[in-house]
Amino acid sequence: MPEPAPIPLGRSALAALVELERVSQTYPLSTARLGAALTDRTDVVFGLEEDGELLGYAILSRLPFDAELQSILVARQARRRGLAVALMEAVIAQAKAWKSERLLLEVREANAPAITLYRRMGFAEDGRRRDYYPSLDGAGREDALLMSRRLDGA
Ligand SMILES: CC(C)(COP(=O)(O)OP(=O)(O)OC[C@H]1O[C@@H](n2cnc3c(N)ncnc32)[C@H](O)[C@@H]1OP(=O)(O)O)[C@@H](O)C(=O)NCCC(=O)NCCS
Repeated sequence: MPEPAPIPLGRSALAALVELERVSQTYPLSTARLGAALTDRTDVVFGLEEDGELLGYAILSRLPFDAELQSILVARQARRRGLAVALMEAVIAQAKAWKSERLLLEVREANAPAITLYRRMGFAEDGRRRDYYPSLDGAGREDALLMSRRLDGA
């Protein structure tokens, strides 16, 4: 069976997004944040569905000159199938369509799977924010890596 292709999600996807976050994340995005992403004119939410089930999503925000990846997630049972690459390709295509100069993102410094994905997609590290995230074990704080990828002519 061919892999699902990313599609822009609308308001009707809110419950599925909330549930995917709830079962997948230590610190899930709030219902309000997800609802705003689905309705704000400056955001696009891409989703991947298979047999009526939401397997992954990515939120992209349009900034004045750049675009920013706010979130990307693939359900545990669907990882290592290339679905995050497909979501990133949709995100990059949308940011290029907006004529954004760069695509920006922040990632926990210990998130090796995501950092490997981003490097593979052409992102480089620009800097870090010290103690930006609460650590996943709840015991302290964790740095955020700031990464970006140019979009013009790339
Ligand atoms: C990061 C995440 C989105 C990757 O999703 P995925 O669909 O499994 O990724 P893909 O199958 O498209 O993998 C693409 C490449 O990324 C890298 N990668 C992905 N998962 C990896 C892992 N666990 N370890 C090492 N590299 C990994 C590999 O280079 C992989 O290519 P390969 O499978 O050919 O080796 C997924 O692990 C996830 O949802 N994590 C939790 C949420 C999260 O951390 N989001 C990022 C927040 S900034």
